Amino acid sequence: MEKVKYYNRKPLPLEMHKVCIVQKTRIPTVEERVNAIRRAGFNTYRLESDDLYLDMLTDSGVNAMTNEQLGAMMIGDDCYAGSSTYKRLKNKIKEIFNKDYFLPVHQGRACEYMLALSYVKPGSIVPMNFQFGTSVNKIRYCGGDYVICIQEDGLNRQSSNPFKGDFDLVKLERILREKGDNVAFVRIEAGTNLIGGQPIALDNMLAVAELCKKYGVLSVLDASLLQDNLHFIKTRENAYSGMSIREIVRIMSDAMDIIYFSARKLGFGRGGAIILNDETEFEHIKTFVANFEGFPTFGGMSVKEMEAIRVGLDDTMDEDIIAQGPQFIEYLCTELEDAGIPVVTPPGGLGCHIDAMKFVPHIKRDEFPGGSLAAAIYIASGARGMERGGIDEPWEDPEVEPYGSMELVRLAVPRRVYTVSQMNYLIDRLCWLYDNRELIGGIKFETPAPHNFYDALNSVSDWPERLAAKFREDFGESL
Ligand code: F0G
Repeated sequence: MEKVKYYNRKPLPLEMHKVCIVQKTRIPTVEERVNAIRRAGFNTYRLESDDLYLDMLTDSGVNAMTNEQLGAMMIGDDCYAGSSTYKRLKNKIKEIFNKDYFLPVHQGRACEYMLALSYVKPGSIVPMNFQFGTSVNKIRYCGGDYVICIQEDGLNRQSSNPFKGDFDLVKLERILREKGDNVAFVRIEAGTNLIGGQPIALDNMLAVAELCKKYGVLSVLDASLLQDNLHFIKTRENAYSGMSIREIVRIMSDAMDIIYFSARKLGFGRGGAIILNDETEFEHIKTFVANFEGFPTFGGMSVKEMEAIRVGLDDTMDEDIIAQGPQFIEYLCTELEDAGIPVVTPPGGLGCHIDAMKFVPHIKRDEFPGGSLAAAIYIASGARGMERGGIDEPWEDPEVEPYGSMELVRLAVPRRVYTVSQMNYLIDRLCWLYDNRELIGGIKFETPAPHNFYDALNSVSDWPERLAAKFREDFGESL
């Protein structure tokens, strides 16, 4: 969508929907917020919904549905085998992705499990632009491993590269040439979650698919974050700016052997899908779906959700609708950058990512700058983000605490859920926090190593109480 021009105001992202149903929310007082984050072990995963004003932990399964999706849910055909709901969703997938075969599963990570069971053997490797935990865990569970092939600029937190999620094609080709027989498949993540929702260019995807064909390896597209990635292809990749979203999807899909996605993100619902053209591969994966997920016409999904996804996929082809997430994120990032707050650039999809190592440089890696900042943001605003750093990092060696390649706080922007005024409130509180950043201290695990990302931590001092006292002093009240 062309951004609307304003006569005498700064441009604002503009919602292309009207709100029909709302959910009441409240802002807990700053004292309640300190108590809640202490109770939650300084881990935002452990906060409860009632503790939150803005829940920006994730965009997964929390995107607002349309009246048309809610209406479609009522025609869900709850039939164990051969449901007409399956046929309707299969037809919609064929219309959009031009692929004949579709397997439903209960969510994105189940797609990954089914694919790993189907293709990964001990000694297999899976090259990918970047890793995502749910995917690599399944690969390892099946005895394989992954190789990251992100291009050099991908890990630069501040950059003007419009497609930081691109593959390093030279590295990928070297792996395919040297280890082709052991490559289970190449996984293409569009967009890349852990480096800040950064997109991959369509030309790069097509080049990867071409290399896969050359070396006889399956190309597998993780399309969970495709909605935002499509917007970036349309707006940042000149060769495709004149095409419709449907035309872009068609070119992409025709090049890929298998596409899977978390429908908690793509399709505004809750579920997962594996889609492909090859009947033999379909039959192969289907046996795992039938054994582990559910009969292959529902695969563990509720038929109501399947109907909602069918309608949601059409929304995903609508440029006006898919522009809103990235425009909200760009707005957040730009306002924060203008205030001097370090964010990952260029703005990507999924959410706004704050660079904790620059926000709180005084906090050492073993006191988790990202996790500490996420806790401080909650105390300052009642907004819950997610640490993306050392706490979240998988342990390779149980003796050695791992540190992530980045220490970020992700403030995810669930689609069509929050308004610009709520974003303005958040920006205001983040500016206050930045001015008081020296009050933020570190956090330490309470549990013995190796830790999980959902384990409890504790503050190294009474910094949360001191931060809350300053908040009261500055705002004169506790909201
Ligand atoms: N692939 C990508 C790129 C994802 O971001 C996710 C989930 C999955 C697969 C797994 O899908 O949750 O339906 O099982 N990302 C969520 C997040 C968890 O918050 O970023 P799922």
